[in-house]
Amino acid sequence: MPQPMPQVEPEPEPEPVVIPNWLPPETWGTSDLVDMNDDPNIVEVNLRAEVMQVKLTEDLSFEAYGYNGMWPGPNLHAKVGDEIIVHFENKLPEPTTVHWHGLRIPADMDGTPRVQTPVEAGGTFTYRFVVPDSGTYWYHPHVRTNEQVEKGLYGSIIIRETEMPTLNAERMFVLDDILVGATNISPFLRSRMEGVHGRNGNLLLINGQTEAQQIDVEQNAVEMWRVVNTANARTMIIGIEGAQFEVIGTDGGRLAEPYTTDRIVLPVGQRYDFFVRYDRSGTARLVSYVQVLNENDQVVEAPIDMAVFNVMPSSLDYQVVSWSEVPARPARTVDREVTIDLDADTSGPDLAWTINGAAHPDAPLFTFTEGETIKMTIVNHAGPEHPFHLHGQFFEVLSRDGEPGLKDTVLIRGNETVEIIAYIDNPGEWMAHCHILEHAELGMMGVVKVLPAE
Ligand code: C2O
Ligand code: CU
Repeated sequence: MPQPMPQVEPEPEPEPVVIPNWLPPETWGTSDLVDMNDDPNIVEVNLRAEVMQVKLTEDLSFEAYGYNGMWPGPNLHAKVGDEIIVHFENKLPEPTTVHWHGLRIPADMDGTPRVQTPVEAGGTFTYRFVVPDSGTYWYHPHVRTNEQVEKGLYGSIIIRETEMPTLNAERMFVLDDILVGATNISPFLRSRMEGVHGRNGNLLLINGQTEAQQIDVEQNAVEMWRVVNTANARTMIIGIEGAQFEVIGTDGGRLAEPYTTDRIVLPVGQRYDFFVRYDRSGTARLVSYVQVLNENDQVVEAPIDMAVFNVMPSSLDYQVVSWSEVPARPARTVDREVTIDLDADTSGPDLAWTINGAAHPDAPLFTFTEGETIKMTIVNHAGPEHPFHLHGQFFEVLSRDGEPGLKDTVLIRGNETVEIIAYIDNPGEWMAHCHILEHAELGMMGVVKVLPAE
């Protein structure tokens, strides 16, 4: 006779604690700013700029600048619509500001000397604003930027959507290069070349590290990567080898139509977001393609590993990432067309870079009205390239089809003309400048004034 089965009530499985749509991003080499505010819709942080000693190799150690003792600065995380409060303290021996690159926030919080008196050594300032757009952004000073940014004052900003897809990981990669000698960071603007082409570094950094990160991942995992180029001048060409990847976002957030490609041109200031799927086991890598001389003294392209992924076979299922549709943007017609001339002035003893005929013009280049749609034709009259950046607004690139999405920075190559459509939706006084920081410091920086709509 069969024994009756004992009736055992199974122990209830403990409920996993799930923070909705929150995956702590992998920000290897860096850390995150700590939110001190209990309100889920307010992110309140302390940010301190200070001198710090950085040691990159046995011999190479130098006085750098960092935020909160981090090099590079910590990552700022928030979700779209959050209020951000930053208690900033300047412990540098010189004035500085914090500019929130790409965020369409009120002009008086933009952190340029045009809208605020720079924070003196020992001074403080509270930045307070609501973030209107999701996406990947970054922060850096807007005073003597060629030195302050190179020395390490920059950090990423990650603004998440309220609904995020289910992913295996999210990663932030902050790409940079610095110019160093054997024992120290190289002096600034000593060579004419540095003024002409900007300061191209000789050491690539990823999240402040000189060595490629080694990461174990599982086959079929899907991750979201965000990259930003914070170098002073170097346009990076990056690729992801050994895995499938899709471009899903640009400076201004998510793309309506993601696309695949095998490499991305990433000028300074710009950001890209990707979905990466490890579709095969083996090794996958994030690489930066740089020009090197081969043994026959020819310039060839070499991939430099920035991060290396050891893709382990796994039982993970192929997963289709579902995410909400990107809402269509209303079509807009052009209200006005303007031209921006970028040029060099070599008439004086020192090289100057000009925007619409003047170095550091004080009068606004243009006065627009909030809500206007402006076609800008940007003409580069000289050989060196200029990643042109407009504060406080997004634009789209009309030239070179194949560069979709909202941007705040666009590369204008030597002697090239690029047309953009700028959506002038944020009133105030905004800088428009080349993001090669040496070019900006040497004059290629002006102001665009936007009057509030009636
Ligand atoms: Cu990234 Cu005017 O700045
Ligand atoms: Cu430039």
